[in-house]
Amino acid sequence: MQPTVYKEAVSFSINDVKDKQDPTRVLMCSPDYFDIVDVKNVHMEGHIGNTDKALVNAQWQSLKQVYDGLQANGVLDEVSVIAGAQGCEDMVFCANQTFPWQMEDGSEVVVMSKMRHESRQREVPHFEAFFAAKGFKPLHFKDAKMFEGMGDVIPHPEKRLLYGGYGHRTSAEAYTELAAMLQTPVVALELVNPKFYHLDTCFVPLSVNSVMLCKEAFSPQGLQMIQQLFSQVYYIPEQEAEDYFSLNAHAFKAHGVKTAILQYGSTHTVAALKQEGYNVVEIDTREFMKSGGSVFCMKMMY
Ligand code: ARG
Repeated sequence: MQPTVYKEAVSFSINDVKDKQDPTRVLMCSPDYFDIVDVKNVHMEGHIGNTDKALVNAQWQSLKQVYDGLQANGVLDEVSVIAGAQGCEDMVFCANQTFPWQMEDGSEVVVMSKMRHESRQREVPHFEAFFAAKGFKPLHFKDAKMFEGMGDVIPHPEKRLLYGGYGHRTSAEAYTELAAMLQTPVVALELVNPKFYHLDTCFVPLSVNSVMLCKEAFSPQGLQMIQQLFSQVYYIPEQEAEDYFSLNAHAFKAHGVKTAILQYGSTHTVAALKQEGYNVVEIDTREFMKSGGSVFCMKMMY
């Protein structure tokens, strides 16, 4: 398939797309300087200065322990931590600064984000250094105005196909450049609801055939493209996705094991995950939800 961007409709079926190996390594960023200093998304409203350091550390550690346990059991190959930097209050959300990808010839590249907010632009070089040390080739946009990495770009499980959210943190034109850089087709999905400002807040692929999502986050054309590419769609109520950030679950299959980690309290989302054969781990991420993020945002998988 050509590295085309699909914006209105798709002209292929998922069987036409090449297979790929999914990643098995996790990166986190320590919450040393995590804070809420401004309102970058609607979830942050009313929360400036309203974080509890002890709870922040305990909640972050509880996620780290889940990943460490998965590594000890041979499900993950590696768990790394980048130290949070002073003046980078959102750096703990390490899904956003980059998009790592394995090219068809096996070489590893990493696309550097162009963060919408000035304070978040300072986070990016820390991640570029991490990936360069791992042997990834850094790639930079020439023209794109905004691009927020794996916050907005989510791969189709087991396939060389990407879904790219746009409208809040990533500009639609970025996907033309991204598809060319990664030599991979992109299904571009307009995000129409400010509560779901990154694709990773409303869209969770579960297998090559299934996905769960919040339909209120998407345009009719976007929903239609998703429905064409996944035969099973689980519709999660908007209120549940909003109250529990349940569609910011980290659901992945590594070394044959399906694990889903998410904020505790959701019902429809947990039911869909169990239906799809996931081991479900519910944790508390409420300090981070005040900043608009939960589990998926707090890690990078590569
Ligand atoms: N406060 C951060 C921001 O607004 C939260 C980022 C959450 N990340 C995510 N992938 N949804 O940028």
